[in-house]
Amino acid sequence: MSSATNMIPKRLSARSLCFAASVVLVVTTLYYLALPDSYSPAPHWAPAPPIQDESSALPDVWEDRAEQVKRAFLHAYRGWETHAAPHDELLPLTNRSSDKFNGWGVTMYDSLDTMILMGLHDEFERALPMIEQANFSLLSLEKSKDRKGRPVPQHAPFFETVIRYLGGLLSAYALSHEPILLQRADDLGRLLAPAFNTTSGFPKYAVNTDTGGVTGSNTGILAEIASCQLEYTFLAQLTGSKEHFDKADRVIQALAQADVTRRGGMFPMRWNLVAGQPMDDILSVGAAADSAHEYLLKQWLLTGQTDDANLQMYLRTTNHILTHLLYLSDDRELLYVTDTSSTAFLPSHKMEHLSCFLPGLLALGAHTLGDRFAALDVPALGTEGLRSHRALEAHDLRSLHLWAAEGLATTCYLMYADQASGLAPDEVTMRPRPKELGVLRFAAGFAGGGAEGGPAGGGRGELWIDAMKRWKDGGAEGAPPGVGMKYPKRYTMDGALAKETDYYTRRDEYFLRPETVESFYIMWRVTGNPIWRERGWEIFESIERETKTDSGYASVKDLYLSPATQKDDMPSYFLAETLKYLYLLFHEDDLVPLDKWVFNTEAHPFPIFTWSDWERRKFGIAKPSS
Ligand SMILES: *[C@@H]1O[C@H](CO)[C@@H](O)[C@H](O)[C@H]1NC(C)=O
Ligand SMILES: *[C@@H]1O[C@H](CO)[C@@H](O)[C@H](O)[C@H]1NC(C)=O
Ligand SMILES: *[C@@H]1O[C@H](CO)[C@@H](O)[C@H](O)[C@H]1NC(C)=O
Repeated sequence: MSSATNMIPKRLSARSLCFAASVVLVVTTLYYLALPDSYSPAPHWAPAPPIQDESSALPDVWEDRAEQVKRAFLHAYRGWETHAAPHDELLPLTNRSSDKFNGWGVTMYDSLDTMILMGLHDEFERALPMIEQANFSLLSLEKSKDRKGRPVPQHAPFFETVIRYLGGLLSAYALSHEPILLQRADDLGRLLAPAFNTTSGFPKYAVNTDTGGVTGSNTGILAEIASCQLEYTFLAQLTGSKEHFDKADRVIQALAQADVTRRGGMFPMRWNLVAGQPMDDILSVGAAADSAHEYLLKQWLLTGQTDDANLQMYLRTTNHILTHLLYLSDDRELLYVTDTSSTAFLPSHKMEHLSCFLPGLLALGAHTLGDRFAALDVPALGTEGLRSHRALEAHDLRSLHLWAAEGLATTCYLMYADQASGLAPDEVTMRPRPKELGVLRFAAGFAGGGAEGGPAGGGRGELWIDAMKRWKDGGAEGAPPGVGMKYPKRYTMDGALAKETDYYTRRDEYFLRPETVESFYIMWRVTGNPIWRERGWEIFESIERETKTDSGYASVKDLYLSPATQKDDMPSYFLAETLKYLYLLFHEDDLVPLDKWVFNTEAHPFPIFTWSDWERRKFGIAKPSS
């Protein structure tokens, strides 16, 4: 998932296949064993959706669906090649191009590993000479104007350039071993390095790759300052460069040393890049924050589960999310994640499409953490962190994470399935279930601007963790709150403000974003439940029906209509992420096993490794304690 504020914004062996199958089997078994006695798995393992017919379970059907995704990728990529190359992105309604990401052809860099995974060797070979010639200069943009005639700024935004270009090069190198890809990744890593020249070690907003000049204020946005650790660490591992290693390491140290006790151990949105300390109390998993939380777990996974600092930060963060950011909606009891803006943790009840990466992250954590859930350094927690820890003590954390993942992923699915277009709005405001059901009902409408604007006592809604406690205390009967089978409801425009709806739409646009299908892919791999594939297929069908143009795929608005209205925009992450995750979801082989690869936030997979003794010595990495 690519967040960002400025953005609308080895081949498989039979052995690894068997391994993957047995992992799914073991995980499924463990999951059942972990369920409380009184909780029958039947309602939890939701029945396949009613639309599913027998034939859709057949491998041939899924192979055909994977082929259809591949054809969609080819349509989009050839559209870019024909009408937009060597510029960044295709404008799929006018066949023109845009240069929002340095003008180096971001669609190509972002697409390289998808081509390799799909076996599109001709496209990959055509890209290599262009990468050979790349110099990452911004000078050719000098005369560029944007569509409103304004000059395009002469700097490379650090975060976007790292996750799309550097991530794309590194992943394509890991999959193909083409030496030029690593050479260019090394070049680019060095050209962007001046961004790290701050007292804290957090990167600044942008770099001029021709002069080494740095742009941006001393205030950084969490997602933009803390989503480069995977890329720089893997680059260091491939090149042996201590300079690269140190860049990522300083970011990790700065995060680990920041004082976030009053935020329950979770990192807020704005940071002072001089002091390396947080500047506000906005806690969110949406734009401006998302990938920073994701990289805590993923950095621990990438380096072979030895990095205790990141593990601790991930455990603290998810403790806080589970106890403070999850609520239930009033009608269908949908589980949702929202944000809070003060140390009173008052929720806004907004939920973003970008936040739909969270179920996948929680499922990945549940799949990989095992007994490390118990590794949390409790004495180091502040009062607030301790409170969350206590609230969670009664639960089995692994089940709790998986239930949250299932409930959230279902909500993300319904945000698509509820619309006539079958595509999800970018942002909604949820209507929370009041604290005590039936007592504090909303008089009318929504909480509006958050708890402050809501009716007394009701605006805050009931936290999921409190509903979980009641469910457990009541004998844990039926599916946990917010989990289990839920069905779409078509909200008309008029109906959108009616009392019985779960949410209203704040931003009625779908930007071809990947987060929901990304989470479905992880859910499918972790639980083996085919419902995630079926739901992914529904979304792909909507993408084909609503967004396809003569030369590519377009973002859309007016999602309550079919056909929705197309916009002249095809983000590179559609090829890097959305189509890659859909392809992996439908493909019968596990091409990128989750115990061997970690996806960066732009869906570029990096291979998991462990540091050798030599690397530990060279980079100054302490021996793992366990
Ligand atoms: C864009 O290109 C496609 C072929 O790639 C063509 O069919 C379509 O008519 C073109 N659209 C415009 C607006 O020129
Ligand atoms: C960098 O590459 C571009 C595109 O190939 C070219 O136009 C430009 O002259 C090169 N710049 C430098 C400084 O070599
Ligand atoms: C880092 O920043 C300092 C102060 O802004 C400047 O003097 C120094 O030249 C910079 N170093 C690099 C390598 O850019």
